[in-house]
Amino acid sequence: MRPRDLSPEEFRKYGYEVVDWIARYLDQTGEYPVAPRVQPGELVDALPASAPAEGEPMERILEDFDKLVVPAVNHWNHPRFHGYFSVSASGAGILGEMLAAALNVNGMLWKSCPAAVELEQVVMSWLRQWLGLPEEFFGIVHDTASTSTLHAIGAARAMADEGLREEGAAPGLVLYTSEHAHSSVEKGALALGLGRRNVRKIGVDGEYRMRPELLAAAIAADRAEGRRPFCVVSTVGTTSVTSVDPVAAVQEIAEGEGLWHHIDGAYGGVAAMLEENRWMLKGAERADSLVVNPHKWLFTPIDFSAFYCRRPDVLRKAYSLVPPYLASQENPRAVNLMDYRIPLGSRFRALKLWFVMRSFGYEKFCAVIRDHIAWAKELADVVAAHPLFEVAAPVPMSLVCFRLKAGDEASKALLEKVNESGEAFLSGNVLDARYVLRIAIGNLGTQREDVFRSWAAVRTLAEQG
Ligand SMILES: Cc1ncc(COP(=O)(O)O)c(C=O)c1O
Repeated sequence: MRPRDLSPEEFRKYGYEVVDWIARYLDQTGEYPVAPRVQPGELVDALPASAPAEGEPMERILEDFDKLVVPAVNHWNHPRFHGYFSVSASGAGILGEMLAAALNVNGMLWKSCPAAVELEQVVMSWLRQWLGLPEEFFGIVHDTASTSTLHAIGAARAMADEGLREEGAAPGLVLYTSEHAHSSVEKGALALGLGRRNVRKIGVDGEYRMRPELLAAAIAADRAEGRRPFCVVSTVGTTSVTSVDPVAAVQEIAEGEGLWHHIDGAYGGVAAMLEENRWMLKGAERADSLVVNPHKWLFTPIDFSAFYCRRPDVLRKAYSLVPPYLASQENPRAVNLMDYRIPLGSRFRALKLWFVMRSFGYEKFCAVIRDHIAWAKELADVVAAHPLFEVAAPVPMSLVCFRLKAGDEASKALLEKVNESGEAFLSGNVLDARYVLRIAIGNLGTQREDVFRSWAAVRTLAEQG
């Protein structure tokens, strides 16, 4: 009995209503305009400036959700949402998320909730096997890839700087990554006080992959000037074009030079689960750390970032600090997650991935991802054959970058028109100093006909001029 909460009867009544809403929404997301037709500030203005002094009935809250909140939603679950990296929440993942919210445990220590800690170890081990990584990779869940990469760079620094823990950082550390790396790498370096001047953006080849010989040369130049190279971050599936850095060649250099090698596979790491794509993570088995985001292309509700580290001892060295109130019995099987990260507490994220992995199974995951990649390649061929358009980059995964031959302004205007139409949602980028449109295919609800319906909207609007 929880006298100050919803009664069991009320919870059941509104719970069923919410589940009905979700079931209908997932079935009919494709009928909404993808992007909302709202102006900035519209929702803020529609809601009271202060919270109510007295509680309100659930009917009114649900009514306002429908009437005010939903119209301001950009529907990432929509089958024609192709912006950024297209992600979606599966039904199984939503159910897991609901139960995690109900249990509301905190997985900071083994004893604070054994189920959260041990299920996290189980799903991280399952995913590690799907990715083809060896057993020595320790897995821990973070909210986002940005947090995972921050932890990787922090661990690399702890390894490079013996005195870091007691004395603080010594100057001269240099981090290397490609000019197409995600901004989270540079942000991680910023947050750790390394300074942007000490982040080297290594040049890429014609297919936007880091050039190992330029990496080696940059390291040599820094050493010659007395600086201390300590970490390299390669990317499997860059944000701009999903290019795949030569992981094995980077790993060789990292080993030879004593650098920590972190791999950012936030989106693309998942593609390497397919037999035909195993080459993408070749060499990763010897790397120091890697991040993959199930909340991007593994149909797990946001947020869930899987961080793997082959040197958990270094994570502990970097992040473990145990105040007396958190001290617990030493037992090698009782993992205390707080020892391996900056946050103390964490949600029961493992539950939703456990639901998703069990409900899909490896074969179905691979089938969906394989379809997305095949449709992207097919779309790229169709775009390339159209006289008004050109494809801007190779398509190794499920992202097609293209532009109007008429130039940047025309391409930008086209993107606006497509998004305003509500028929599809795309995002833009600048590649080689030219504006490009991106169609990302990664949504569980997307079928081949959705991809070509989105393309029809783009093509028709372009042809109308
Ligand atoms: C390659 C890559 N790394 C990192 C990130 C950052 O992801 P998160 O939002 O989980 O921090 C992204 C986001 O799209 C990405 O594409």
